[in-house]
Amino acid sequence: MATSIMISSISWLICLNCVFTAGVLLDDEFEGSRTLGLEHSFSSGKPEFTKRGTVVIQSLKGNKAQFTPASSMSEADIDSLKELAKKDGLYRVRIPIKDGDGPTFVSSATRACAIVESGLQDEITVNFDQSGEVLGVSIRGLVPACSGVDVPHSNLTAWKTSVEVYTTVSGPSPDTQTYIDKMKRDEQEKIKNQDGDNRSFLAKYWMYIVPVVIMMVIMSSADQQGQGGGR
Ligand SMILES: *[C@@H]1O[C@H](CO)[C@@H](O)[C@H](O)[C@H]1NC(C)=O
Ligand SMILES: *[C@@H]1O[C@H](CO)[C@@H](O)[C@H](O)[C@H]1NC(C)=O
Repeated sequence: MATSIMISSISWLICLNCVFTAGVLLDDEFEGSRTLGLEHSFSSGKPEFTKRGTVVIQSLKGNKAQFTPASSMSEADIDSLKELAKKDGLYRVRIPIKDGDGPTFVSSATRACAIVESGLQDEITVNFDQSGEVLGVSIRGLVPACSGVDVPHSNLTAWKTSVEVYTTVSGPSPDTQTYIDKMKRDEQEKIKNQDGDNRSFLAKYWMYIVPVVIMMVIMSSADQQGQGGGR
């Protein structure tokens, strides 16, 4: 008897667990999982974009995303990237987004020296609007500053990229600045009233006192009349 209760409660627990897991998985799926192509250009002169890899967003809400490189950097790639860095040129990235006729892109650029000196360690930020459309992209190499050190080729073969995802906050947001201003004004008004209101008690409260006095007069006269009638 006890065993069967135990077994049934255990199976209940397991079932709850599976429902819970399914819920989480479903939730993740509908949070906006998607894939974006990432292209880059590091040619000196006119930008020529080639595929760099894909940004896979598992969850827009949870800010879960990662970068998958299409291929590692070839010797020729490394050479042209280093040459661009030497000239203090711009390393560019862009993400194609479908919009109207023809391909359109959101893009970003950073100093090539930052990419080289970080050893291909960069951070890409993708902004989305509420409907899950890409609003913009930005990139930075993870170095505090370009110092002009010579980076060996072996440090420039594989991307170590982290991806950040931001979604515009939903709903009508309160106008915080106006509200704070109002609070400040109210506060000042209060202080002014406390300090400056040196009017006499009567001057301040006559509007409350007068009706009470009138009421009392009326009531006392009514009382007198009532008493008079009774006699
Ligand atoms: C190259 O990579 C190694 C190992 O990650 C690191 O210790 C070294 O500082 C890097 N060299 C440069 C010039 O960044
Ligand atoms: C209240 O005090 C201020 C100075 O603090 C003075 O200028 C003002 O005349 C006073 N008002 C009355 C009604 O006494």
